[in-house]
Order: sequence, then C-alpha cells, then structure tokens
Amino acid sequence: MSIKHKKLTKNDAPKTITNDERVMNENDFIVSKTDTKGVITYANRIFVQMSGYKTEEIIGANHNLIRHPDMPKIAFKLAWDTIKEEKEFFGFIKNLSKDGSYYWVFAYITADLDSRGNILGYTSFRRKPGRQAIEEITKVYKLLNNAEKNGGINASEKLLNKYLQNNKTTYDNFIHDLQLGIAA
Ligand SMILES: Cc1cc2nc3c(=O)[nH]c(=O)nc-3n(C[C@H](O)[C@H](O)[C@H](O)COP(=O)(O)O)c2cc1C
Repeated sequence: MSIKHKKLTKNDAPKTITNDERVMNENDFIVSKTDTKGVITYANRIFVQMSGYKTEEIIGANHNLIRHPDMPKIAFKLAWDTIKEEKEFFGFIKNLSKDGSYYWVFAYITADLDSRGNILGYTSFRRKPGRQAIEEITKVYKLLNNAEKNGGINASEKLLNKYLQNNKTTYDNFIHDLQLGIAA
C-alpha cells in the first residue's frame, strides 16, 4: 500500500520566517532537477537535508516552495530568461527551509537537452557561497526589493543594469567576482 501525499505548493511554505541560518558544508553540492515548468523531479540527499522537507514532499512540488521573500523577482526573471535560451545561469539564492530558517547557495542552473536540442527540463547544482559574497549580494537584493515595491520588476531591472554599468561589469562577471571574493 502506498501512502499518497498532498502536493505541496507555495501556500504550504512556512508562514513564520526566522533569522536562523543553515550553512552549507564546504564540499557539499545541492542538486535538483525540474521539468520545463520548474516542478521538481529529482532532489539529492543534501537538498532534502537543507530544505527540511522529505523527498516525497519535494518531488512534484514547484521549486518556488523554497522561495525566500528576501529574493527579488528580477533574480528569477534573469535565471529563467537565461536558461530558456539554453545558456548557463549563475547566481546567489537565499532559500527558505520548511522550519522557516534560510540558507544561501551559489547556484548554477542549466537546461537538459535531447539529441535535437529540445529542452527536457532543467538541472541545478549549488555550492557554498563565500561569506563576503553573501554580505554584498544581500545589500544589492535589498535595493532591488525596494525598487520592486515602488516600481515593480521594470524598476529593479533598470536599477540592476545601472548598478552593473556603474561598476563597469556584466551580471556574470559581477557574480563570479563575488564568489571569488573580488569586491565589486
Ligand atoms: C532547476 C531549477 C532550480 C531552481 N532552484 C531554485 C531555488 O533553489 N530556489 C528558488 O527560490 N527558486 C529556484 N528556482 C526558480 C523557481 O522555479 C521560481 O522561479 C522562483 O522560486 C520564483 O518563484 P515565483 O515566481 O513563483 O515567486 C529554480 C528553477 C529551476 C528551473
């Protein structure tokens, strides 16, 4: 006899968000795979541990189950625009665990292609981000969130582009420099 689980959605995410941080181990990878809509089809043991959900709760849930409200919308728009074009996305993501705690990751997301180049789904690997990178990106995400509160995603997109221009960098270089510990 199999036990049927209710499919978890964003509404099942914790309502009480705490300031408790879970920190990734240096040598760990968090891995997940999704279908073309972002519904999780595979989660490795470290993902299960860090998110606090059971494997059977995670599989079949949309990846936004672990979306943290501190993440600006523009970060995910950038991610989806990039991976849908079959390019590789890198970024820092703050995730929400089942108990309301959070954990930061340095994420890589890419499309899984069939032999004809059609997108079958997506795969993400995450490593531990640098501490300084988290401090820097936290400030940037705060600015982007504030822009979104007032002017929506158009405003945060403009702000991000201006920020990159002012720092004479591109999104990818900015992200990789942060992870390498090179100050923006
Ligand atoms: C392979 C893959 C991995 C993803 N990993 C995460 C993740 O770790 N955390 C997250 O919040 N969103 C992740 N996303 C993005 C979510 O699908 C979603 O766009 C995001 O949580 C924002 O959701 P919302 O627009 O419903 O607020 C991932 C998407 C894909 C395709």
